[in-house]
Amino acid sequence: MDPAGIKGLAQALLPWYRAHHRALPWRDDPDPYKVWVSEIMLQQTRIEAVRPYYQRFMQALPDVAALAAADTDTLYKLWEGLGYYSRVRHLHQAAVQIMQAGGRMPDAYEQLLKLPGVGPYTAGAIASIAFGRRAAAVDGNVLRVLARLTGYEGDVLAPAGKKELSALAWELLPQRDAGTYNQAIMELGETVCLPGAAVRCGQCPAQALCEARRQGNAAALLVRGARPPRRMEPYTVLIVLSGPRVLLHRRPEKGLLAGMWELPPLPGHLSAAQAAQALRQMGIPAQPVRELPAARHLFTHVEWQMTGALLRAAPFVPPDGFCLATARQLEEDFALPGAYKAYQRLIPALLSDPA
Ligand code: ADE
Repeated sequence: MDPAGIKGLAQALLPWYRAHHRALPWRDDPDPYKVWVSEIMLQQTRIEAVRPYYQRFMQALPDVAALAAADTDTLYKLWEGLGYYSRVRHLHQAAVQIMQAGGRMPDAYEQLLKLPGVGPYTAGAIASIAFGRRAAAVDGNVLRVLARLTGYEGDVLAPAGKKELSALAWELLPQRDAGTYNQAIMELGETVCLPGAAVRCGQCPAQALCEARRQGNAAALLVRGARPPRRMEPYTVLIVLSGPRVLLHRRPEKGLLAGMWELPPLPGHLSAAQAAQALRQMGIPAQPVRELPAARHLFTHVEWQMTGALLRAAPFVPPDGFCLATARQLEEDFALPGAYKAYQRLIPALLSDPA
């Protein structure tokens, strides 16, 4: 692809960015740890949603050493609601790795890439924003901006499109202050060069350079290839009440939502009576109360199709991997995945109801 037509991109973007960028807490202080945590949070989450999580995370764990020393339940609680929990597990693993290597964050792109959870985008963002290195940070927004600027008509998220446009992103980097330039192009993608018909070409500082704009088809460009369909997984989510407590289960240490607490799920769609029977076989003296409404949750590759069952149990000692929590503990100490939200929100009222 010929980058000649957009050589002046940095000159067009930087004054616009200085005048229009959003004030974000980590922009005032591009400390490597802050940049790293914020970029990981921003990977699948909008800036406005990230803001309160970021503040809370920094208060609780202000540096790499504190992050490395944190336990899993603390980390999940700080991340509760942000989703994609492997992000915080990788952050933790990377912090441990950094502490083992002497406690300093690596400053070079290639070294950053070796940290768990740090891919080309995050390595480029940290290297450029925190350390002033000349490295590109190519996310979906940047791909869209570059595709429009060059009139690229393929699928920008398919490997070939990504490779071609990433190479262009590296070529276009200015010699100085690539960090500000990277943030400017991301900001353009997030606030002006929006997907599809939401695009605001009239506000764009690079409109004179833009091939899609010249052709009058900025809104039409960028068809995404169809995703493979999600795998459907049916579960029955159990709310098992025992006195003032509800039964929780810890997920296996590997796989989806690894090590997180959850409302115990059973595979398939079961009646409350069938669920009670399955629990009794595990040593949990459950009695059926009633079925609960269906709910579903979309993960990237899987769809959970859930029904629910409410059960009550006489006092018992929870088997390995289970525990009992009060409504208050559930609120303050445990982080449950968002997938259970439809059932989790029923719990406070059920626990306060003596029937
Ligand atoms: N999106 C993700 N990281 C960003 C950053 N540093 N600036 C602007 N938008 C972003």
